[in-house]
Amino acid sequence: MDLSNKVAIVTGGAKGIGLASAECMIRQGADVMLVDWSGDAASAAAKGLTALSKGVDFVVADISKAAEAEKAIRATVDRFGGVDILVNNAGIQTFGDPVTTTEEVWDKTMNVNLKGHWLMSKYAIPEMLKRGKGSIVNISSVQGLASQRNVVAYSTSKHAMIGLTRSMAVDMASRNVRVNCVCPGTVNTPMIHSIIELDSDPERLKKILDKMHPLGRMAQPSEIGEVVAFLASDRASFMTGSIVVVDGGLIIPLAGSPE
Ligand SMILES: NC(=O)c1ccc[n+]([C@@H]2O[C@H](COP(=O)([O-])OP(=O)(O)OC[C@H]3O[C@@H](n4cnc5c(N)ncnc54)[C@H](O)[C@@H]3O)[C@@H](O)[C@H]2O)c1
Repeated sequence: MDLSNKVAIVTGGAKGIGLASAECMIRQGADVMLVDWSGDAASAAAKGLTALSKGVDFVVADISKAAEAEKAIRATVDRFGGVDILVNNAGIQTFGDPVTTTEEVWDKTMNVNLKGHWLMSKYAIPEMLKRGKGSIVNISSVQGLASQRNVVAYSTSKHAMIGLTRSMAVDMASRNVRVNCVCPGTVNTPMIHSIIELDSDPERLKKILDKMHPLGRMAQPSEIGEVVAFLASDRASFMTGSIVVVDGGLIIPLAGSPE
């Protein structure tokens, strides 16, 4: 796949899946703007990526706020001349069941994991239309297709990402903007590390997480990034509204398929 002369924005690009997606797209020739609310992490990530290309920069923004999302798009146009690709990846993991989840946690989860992706799309799409086409890749989760205990806000936000993908795909298809969605299984990123470290027996939890996947392990971030780069590229030119599961088989087994 060839992404030369393409400008890509990656939200949550400072770490994990976002950083890996940025790296994969840079390797295919894209210029990439990292958008992250963590300035230190974004600066370090951009510095690391300049070893691959000079076409990388970062902007500090909280995507859940309209003015900051708009600022991120404007900064990208100022720096690289336009927008071809948007990877809506930034997200937060939250915990709680319908009773224990607070209003604050619910609102924060929806604002970052859902509203932020709509806001970034809202401001990026007009720039894509100026170029005659565009590609948006949303990062949902297997928790957008199935659920588990104690993640009511997170799982709801990830299900809604699939709705957002399909709605935007239908609205934008006639104007040549494709919108697709990736649903990863467990991925070896700082988000997962922090969950593992909270457990009383992190080694045991890591083994359980690995074993949950029929392939016997969690994914490396680049294994998601490669799929993101493909969907972003013209190689996926007849794909829009697709929900692509990249989970090592995680959601296949019936009732966990005990051995
Ligand atoms: N890691 C997994 O196992 C996994 C599985 C399925 C889906 N996902 C999803 O993939 C995406 C990336 O996950 P990850 O594991 O790489 O996470 P991560 O926590 O390792 O990295 C997320 C990045 O997003 C940034 N971010 C968070 N909220 C932001 C905001 N409001 N504005 C700007 N930046 C923000 C963080 O600073 C961080 O750099 C998330 O949407 C997550 O829900 C992750």
